[in-house]
Amino acid sequence: MHNPVKISNKIKKFNEKISVSGDKSISIRCVLLATQAIGISRIYNLLESEDVLNALKSIKRLGVNYKKKKNFYEIESFGLRSLNKLNRVVVNAGNSGTLARLILGILVDNDNEVTLKGDNSLSGRDFTRVIEPLKKFGVNFIVKKKNLPLIIKGTKFLRPINYYEKLGSAQCKSAVMLAALKTPGITKIKAKKSRNHTELMFKELEIPIKVIKEKYYDLIEIRGLTNFNSFEYRVPGDLSSSAFFLVLTLLSKESKIRITNVNINETRTGIIKILNRMNAKIVYKNKKKYKGEIVSDILVKSVNNLKGIRCPKSLNSSAIDEFLIIFLVAAKAKGISTFSDLGELNKKESPRLNIAIKLLKMMGIKILRKNNDIKIYGNPKLNLKGKFIVKNYNKDHRIFMMSCIAALTFGGNWKIFDKDSTYTSFPHFLKIIKQLGADIIEN
Ligand code: S3P
Repeated sequence: MHNPVKISNKIKKFNEKISVSGDKSISIRCVLLATQAIGISRIYNLLESEDVLNALKSIKRLGVNYKKKKNFYEIESFGLRSLNKLNRVVVNAGNSGTLARLILGILVDNDNEVTLKGDNSLSGRDFTRVIEPLKKFGVNFIVKKKNLPLIIKGTKFLRPINYYEKLGSAQCKSAVMLAALKTPGITKIKAKKSRNHTELMFKELEIPIKVIKEKYYDLIEIRGLTNFNSFEYRVPGDLSSSAFFLVLTLLSKESKIRITNVNINETRTGIIKILNRMNAKIVYKNKKKYKGEIVSDILVKSVNNLKGIRCPKSLNSSAIDEFLIIFLVAAKAKGISTFSDLGELNKKESPRLNIAIKLLKMMGIKILRKNNDIKIYGNPKLNLKGKFIVKNYNKDHRIFMMSCIAALTFGGNWKIFDKDSTYTSFPHFLKIIKQLGADIIEN
C-alpha cells in the first residue's frame, strides 16, 4: 500500500467558488470520436487524468496522432477507417472500463489483431457484456473466461444488429453505437436508461441517429458508414467529481460552495435529485445549453436537518458513480435510508457495494443488506473518535475520495491509502480540498 494521507481534523467552515476538471465520460468519447472524423478536431478542457491519457496513448498506438497545444488537444484523423493500419498492436486501457469497452466498438472493422489489456482492477471486470453484442456484428474475439487481456479481430464484412441492453450500461450501449457507426445498414438498440453523451455527440456530428424515449428504455437507430467532419468541443465540468464537494458542503457546518460550469445532463443528475429529497437545497444558476448537454453552476449550503430517503431504483443509473458519497449523507441523516438493486456497484473498479458496507460499519453505522438492497440507519449525531485506516481497494479512486470526505466531516484520526488513485479521474481533488481549508497531511 502506498501514498497515504492523514486527516485528523474536521474541515472548518468555508464559502468558496470552485471549478472541477472536465467530464471523464465526455473526454473519452471526444478522443475516440475524433479518430473517426475527417480533419483536425480540437478538444478544450479535456480531463488530463490517467483514464483519458490512456485513451490518447491508445489511439496513438493505433496510428492516430494527437498534439497537446496551449489550452486544447488536437487530434487529426482521416475518417472511419483511420485506425486500421497496424497489425498486432497492444492497447493498454489502464484502469478505465469506459475506454476499454468503447474502444472495442471502434475496432470492429479492423481485421488486424489488437490485444486489449488493463491494470489488475480492469482485468478482473466482465467483458462478456460487450463481447456478446459485438460478436453479433461478425467480430471475432480470443478471450480467456470473460476478462482482459483479450484479442479482438474485426472484419470488413460487418452486419447490423438488433441489440437489447438490459443492464443500464452506457459503456455497453456506446460500444454498440460505435460499432454501428462502422457498419452498413441500420443497427437498432433498445437500451435501459443510462447516460446519453454518445447519442448527443452523434446528433451534433450529424451522424444519422434516431432516439425514441420511452419510460424506462430508449429506442435508438443508427445508420452506419456516414462520414463526418472534425469538431471542436469544450468539455464541461464533471458532476461525478463535483459530487464530493456537494457532500462535503452539505455535511460541514455553516458552509457554502458554488461549482462553476458543471454538466447537469439529466441522465447524470441522480445525485442532485437524491440529495434534494434528503433536504439539501441544491440549486442551479447560469444554465446554458452546449452541444445538447446542459452546463450550469451548482450552489449548495450546509444542512442540519438531513432526512433519510427511500431511493427509487429508477435513479440508480443516473447516480451510479455517486452512491458511495450518497451513503455518507444517509449515514448522517435522520431516519433509515433504503437503496435497492445495486448489483452493478459491485462491477466497478472495485466491488463498491461490499466495500462501502464494510467502511460504513467501521464508522459504527448500522447497515443491513439483503442481496443487493441495503438499509442505512442514519445517525444525525455521528461524531467519530479513534483511528480509522482505509486500504485502497483495487486502487479505487472513488473509495479514496469518499474516505477523505468522511474523515473531514465525521471526525476521527484517519489514514487513507492511496492518494495517487485520484490521478485516475480527478488529479486536482486534494488541491481543491486544501483550497477549501482542509488539513490533510501527505507523505
Ligand atoms: C460510464 C458509464 C458507467 C459509469 C462509468 C462511466 C461511461 O458505467 O459507471 O464510470 O462513460 O459510459 P456502466 O456503463 O458500466 O454502468
